Amino acid sequence: MFLKEELNQYINSHSKSKKMWDRATNVLAGGVSHNIRNLNLPLIGAFPPFIKEGHGSKVIDIDSNTYDDYWGAHYAMITGYSNPTIQEKIEDQLTNTWHLGTVMEQQVLMAEKLIQDNKSVEHVRFCTSGTEAAMYATRLARAFTGKKKVAKAKLGWHGAADTLFYDVRVPLTGKETRGILDDKEAGVISIDINDQTVVDVLNQHSNELAAVIVEPVLGGGGGFPVEPEFLNLLREETMRHDIILIFDEIITGYRFCNSLYQNELNVFPDLTTMGKIIGGGFPIGAIGGRHDIVEQANPTIPDRVWIGGGTFSNYPLSMIAGLEILKILKDSTQEYQRINKLGEALIADLNQFFREEQLSYVTIGHKSLITLHSLSKNLEKYDPAEIVHYSDKQKEAWTQLSLLNRHITGMHGIGALSFAHTSKQIHYLRETIETLTPKVSKEIHR
Ligand SMILES: Cc1ncc(COP(=O)(O)O)c(C=O)c1O
Repeated sequence: MFLKEELNQYINSHSKSKKMWDRATNVLAGGVSHNIRNLNLPLIGAFPPFIKEGHGSKVIDIDSNTYDDYWGAHYAMITGYSNPTIQEKIEDQLTNTWHLGTVMEQQVLMAEKLIQDNKSVEHVRFCTSGTEAAMYATRLARAFTGKKKVAKAKLGWHGAADTLFYDVRVPLTGKETRGILDDKEAGVISIDINDQTVVDVLNQHSNELAAVIVEPVLGGGGGFPVEPEFLNLLREETMRHDIILIFDEIITGYRFCNSLYQNELNVFPDLTTMGKIIGGGFPIGAIGGRHDIVEQANPTIPDRVWIGGGTFSNYPLSMIAGLEILKILKDSTQEYQRINKLGEALIADLNQFFREEQLSYVTIGHKSLITLHSLSKNLEKYDPAEIVHYSDKQKEAWTQLSLLNRHITGMHGIGALSFAHTSKQIHYLRETIETLTPKVSKEIHR
């Protein structure tokens, strides 16, 4: 009954979105251009709200429903939507044009800033997306070492390019889609995070492994933090075997502090991929790291490594917004501390509530990154593979729909906090989750 009423309420308050969804599914594969943006709502006979505006922590849909937003555009908008300083800079630039396809001053300033902020970043190449950055980073590593294979973490998400789209989702059986090579043909080896067996794996494949790529927090995989000891172990073992260590900091970069997360962890890779936050809300990807590895891409040297070539690489608006956001973040130490603390408390409080009420939900994350997992059974341990294995997509969709009815939107199980969120909003989020999850659970598992 509760769920039926929730669905009716949602449909009644989203009539324009419903019409647009019907049109979308006529012309776009599955109605979307990014698979998770349907919020799994079609699974329960619903559809996503079409969002038209974002201001600070709020977004508004085409039916004029306003929401507290915890998605933050794939975790990219750390200061909230429509930051006025960035908006002003972009408007200024628009009067001078918005795409040139030439070298430009701002990319130099942006590269200098990334180098200044981050000890391991000695040299930079920009591209347009995180997917490209990860693809090029492994290419650079293969070229540098002369070796062919790449190890990646199970559940690690580096974009859906052919090269690294393996063992991303449970049941972790290798390639994630028809249309790409099998993992053995593609030379991808998967490793478990926080597991000492990695020593044996790297030892066994040392002669063929060009790189290990890992996110310090498995964001897309479900918010699972990688232990600093494990990252240290990776650093030692990769160094021992002449394997390039790549940290994918596309989510974690500038998320927890005003530089890459590796600076807090005090573990430094050879290469780092960056994106999301550093574009200030515009498309960006970057590869940064050791001079000798990145400089292989210099087009004037013999036998250079060809990376890049994107029409929109070093896109002017991305560089301008990027420079501005990095400036803002430099002065945001207190804001980081505030949202880190609020996020940590939210994760702990929700988990305590779920345990006390014996609800099959769990919140996983790190500081301001938060993933609410809707599960089909109670789990004793917070083991990544088990959590993802027992993830219940219908339940997630019902939970999401009930949150939308109470003016909260997120994706992928909540998402991330931004500087624009107030303690009051986060309190409301917690209260709402604590009110809804027992009701959703009761009907789903009846
Ligand atoms: C860790 C990580 N790497 C790479 C990517 C791909 O970045 P993009 O979506 O900009 O291509 C993502 C995107 O979610 C990501 O989270």
